[in-house]
Amino acid sequence: MKKFITIKDAMKKGTGDVHIRGWVYRQRASNKFVFIVVRDESDIIQCVIKKEKSPEIYEEAVKLTIESSIELSGVIKEDERAPTGYEIQVKELNIFQIAEPFPITQDQSTEFLLDNRHLWLRSRRMTAILKIRHTVVGAIHDFFRKRGFYEFDAPVFQPSMSEGGATLFEVKYFKDKVYLSQSWQLYAEAGIFALGKIYNVGPTFRAEKSKTSRHLTEFWMCEMEAAWMKLDGAVQLAKDEIRFILKRVLRDNKQDLEILERDIKLLEKYAKVKYPTIKYADALKLLNEEYVMDVPWGKDLRTLEEAKIAEHFQCPVVVTHYPTDIMGFYKPPSPENPKEALCFDMLAPEGYCEIVGGSERSLLVDNMMERLKAEGEDPQNYDWYFDLRKYGSVPHSGYGVGLERVVSWICGIDSIKDAIPFPRTMLRKTP
Ligand code: 4AD
Ligand code: MG
Repeated sequence: MKKFITIKDAMKKGTGDVHIRGWVYRQRASNKFVFIVVRDESDIIQCVIKKEKSPEIYEEAVKLTIESSIELSGVIKEDERAPTGYEIQVKELNIFQIAEPFPITQDQSTEFLLDNRHLWLRSRRMTAILKIRHTVVGAIHDFFRKRGFYEFDAPVFQPSMSEGGATLFEVKYFKDKVYLSQSWQLYAEAGIFALGKIYNVGPTFRAEKSKTSRHLTEFWMCEMEAAWMKLDGAVQLAKDEIRFILKRVLRDNKQDLEILERDIKLLEKYAKVKYPTIKYADALKLLNEEYVMDVPWGKDLRTLEEAKIAEHFQCPVVVTHYPTDIMGFYKPPSPENPKEALCFDMLAPEGYCEIVGGSERSLLVDNMMERLKAEGEDPQNYDWYFDLRKYGSVPHSGYGVGLERVVSWICGIDSIKDAIPFPRTMLRKTP
């Protein structure tokens, strides 16, 4: 029995007989040779067939088209002229399928690539991004489990909103209606009374009308919630988590970062430096004094202002104490100055902006009820949530990391759509 190994392992072996399988990445034939570059999930490798030496294999190999599926056996050796430094002299070739002309050729438009996402996934670029996404999710699980957090799941069908009614997706639910989850948070606030410290990585849905490079309608949020934790504890944890993720990607995905032509030195810096924390009010001052950007107190920061703040510090930066009035009902007014909420965002540099949002959770039931009413919500729908403030209420905090936002930033890619296998936006729901 032949033992098939990945292309990467074959190159590690470096000499002798190897058996590999995969897809034709490139093919070039002359009347003496056929060169096939084969790809699998691990890498690409050049394979060569000499007509004079193996005329039968040569006749088969000339028929190969891009993306044809094959397995082959041969002798591997170093060859500095080959694209990845190794070449296989083919001794046996088995063709599974000769592919039809592959629709994706060079210089296709972004929309064409999105229409053909089911095929474009195989590109080296998408493969590299998907591997980095895999590392990021794995790092998040490790980060929280190492710190004694339990994984906890919330329903995706939810009876009410948590992050504002405007972006809810309504779903018919037998004779009734429900909404797709905008956040895990409200259920997590129930979970902490059982498990103390919890986290989750899960799908999140928002009917975002914005056609920006930073918004999806279906994205994955990595959230945490902890009893007894205050704002400063949540901020510190978020900073530690982001640095942990960066270190993991730098450890495991150097080759992928190179394929994406990402500035690795810059990521190494982000993995090392301390991230500053500033208050919203000081962020306004900074924008005004250093960049003549005049934001009146009380207005939310727009993308260009967030981008400027992170650019100023050249690393992720945490902004706290946003105006209470523009924040979700569960973000508590600060006891020192109730106009400011005990909340934070983390802004990533290089124009990637908000990657994390979190807060302490309000313990003031009347205040929350008023704010829900002001948003047009019926506080009665939140009775179960307010129960949590009746039976052993404790200070607690949490935050959510936008997975695709973090992956986009780490990969240095232009659009968040490439940070998820099959993106969903206002204008795209296929394939
Ligand atoms: O700031 P957000 O709305 O916070 C919450 O939902 C809280 N309930 C989280 C919590 O405290 N447990 O969302 C958190 C993060 C944002 O910082 C952003 O990174 C990401 O989720 N995000 C999106 N990512 C892609 N597409 C969208 N439409 C997003 N909306 C938010
Ligand atoms: Mg936010």
